Formats: sequence, C-alpha cells, structure tokens
Amino acid sequence: MKQDIVPIHSVQFITNEIIELTFISDYLSAAAKPGQFINIRVGENFPLLRRPFSIFNVEGSRVSIVFNVIGTGTKVLARKQKGDTIDVLGPCGNNFLSFVDDSFETAIFVAGGIGVAPFPFLTKKFPASIKIVTFLGGRNKELIIEKGLQNVRIATDDGSQGFNGTVLDLIKDDFSKHRYIKPRFFVCGPTRMMKAVAGYAKEIGADCFASLECDMACGIGLCQGCNIEMNGGEKKYRLVCKEGTIFDTQSVKL
Ligand SMILES: Cc1cc2nc3c(=O)[nH]c(=O)nc-3n(C[C@H](O)[C@H](O)[C@H](O)COP(=O)(O)OP(=O)(O)OC[C@H]3O[C@@H](n4cnc5c(N)ncnc54)[C@H](O)[C@@H]3O)c2cc1C
Ligand code: FES
Repeated sequence: MKQDIVPIHSVQFITNEIIELTFISDYLSAAAKPGQFINIRVGENFPLLRRPFSIFNVEGSRVSIVFNVIGTGTKVLARKQKGDTIDVLGPCGNNFLSFVDDSFETAIFVAGGIGVAPFPFLTKKFPASIKIVTFLGGRNKELIIEKGLQNVRIATDDGSQGFNGTVLDLIKDDFSKHRYIKPRFFVCGPTRMMKAVAGYAKEIGADCFASLECDMACGIGLCQGCNIEMNGGEKKYRLVCKEGTIFDTQSVKL
C-alpha cells in the first residue's frame, strides 16, 4: 500500500448519474487486485477524511473508479478535470480472487447500485475456466453499468430496464429457469441487499462472499472504527477496512 499524488487522465459521465474518473498510476495499476479499494483525499484541505472507492478498471497504467454524486466528497471529485491531481492511498483491503478455488463451477456476481464498481475488473481477472453470470440491480437504468461484464441480467426498481423488481427477485426467477452447477456468490452493494442475497445463497447451499459497506475514517486499520461482529471464531470483531472488505457472509453478523 502506498500514498501517491497522481494525474487525472479523464472524468466523464458514463450514464446520466455515474461518473468514471481515470487516473494514471504505474504502482496501483500493477499492485491492484479486484475487490480492493483506494482511499482518495478528494480536496487539499476539505473534506478532511479520505473517501474509499472500489477499483473499477485497470488498463495499462490507467486506473479508474466510478461514483455517483452523493455528498461533500463526491461533489469535489466530480469537479476534477484532466490534468488535475489527486492524492490516492492503496490498494487497500483483501480481494475477491482470494475466495476463488476449485470447489465451485459457476460464479454468480451480484451488484446493487454503485456496488457494480468492483465487477468489471473482477470479470477481467477471473479464471476463464469458470462460468460467470452477473446480476445487476439498481433504482433505475441510470445506475446500471454493463461495460466489462459477462452474461448480464438486469433488475430495476422502476422497471426502466430489464426485470421490474429487486435483484433478489430476479435471481430467484432466473435460478428457477436455469440450472447453475455448483454456484458461488460474489456480492457488492447495499447491506440490506447483501443480507438478502446471503440468505438465499445459504438456503440453496451455496457459498457467498460479500464486500461489506461501512463508514471508514482511516481505511487502513488505525482508527478501529469499522468493526464488524463475527459469528463465532477466534475473534469477536474484525476490521472491515483491513481484514475485509470481503467476508464469507456466514462468518459475519450482517
Ligand atoms: C470499501 C468501500 C468502497 C466504496 N466504493 C465506492 C465506489 O466505488 N463508488 C462510490 O460511489 N462509492 C463508493 N463507496 C462509498 C464512498 O466512499 C462514499 O461514502 C460515497 O461516495 C459518499 O461520499 P460523499 O463524500 O460524497 O458523501 P458524504 O458527504 O460523506 O455523505 C453525504 C450524506 O450521504 C450519506 N451517504 C454516504 N454514503 C452513502 C451511500 N453510499 N449511499 C447513500 N447515502 C450515503 C451520508 O450518510 C451523508 O448523510 C465505497 C465505500 C466503501 C466503504
Ligand atoms: S476505518 Fe479505521 S480501522 Fe477501519
């Protein structure tokens, strides 16, 4: 993990609501693994705390993130332009590929909203021998990004694209029509959605690994502010930023 000031290559809307910001970093492009995040100091003096963002894509020495404008940090980020610089710290956290072994045959990627962010890079780096099916859920079509994904099924709350309903309803519908051999779920999105998908995975006897959401003050294991309670095991709590963000959903109290 390293802190660096890097030049911005581009900032562009890829849907009406989602912005892709690409910067150049030889170090991060070589070191980053899918599911890891970077901590960005978005402004020089304000806001004080860094904001975590999943690594969306790596191409050559270019690294990109995607975000929608929510509050202070993302408003500042959205105003950046090609040629500006940003202060990045990373790569942080564990990665999805450490949960890939030979005990499953179909990878089920499930993303809610901007939780789609880690999946294009994961798809790119995933073993080619494993079939991937991707389920995307969003409030509306402006929160859906299909770029870089495989075998995509889409659900929107307002029915503006794909299945009209939640991503879990779509998964259940799809699983009733197809037989997926030895599925394993990889999930990122709002906690409520991840909890529901984890419950379904358990019901059908599949493993489920989710990248957990939480507020992070330091993002590097120093402030102890991102504890998650475990379901037994040697430690009662673990740090999401350092020991996660990805956990076996059966091992944590979601
Ligand atoms: C490991 C990790 C990876 C992340 N990856 C991404 C990513 O790839 N893309 C991305 O856009 N965001 C990502 N986030 C969330 C991101 O770090 C910021 O929290 C988010 O973008 C809002 O920052 P802000 O400074 O604009 O809002 P703030 O000013 O911090 O918050 C403004 C208001 O919005 C609320 N709020 C904060 N975050 C959210 C949220 N996610 N949904 C709804 N309300 C919220 C706050 O409670 C507050 O009331 C990630 C978070 C984590 C922990
Ligand atoms: S955010 Fe500080 S320890 Fe995790």
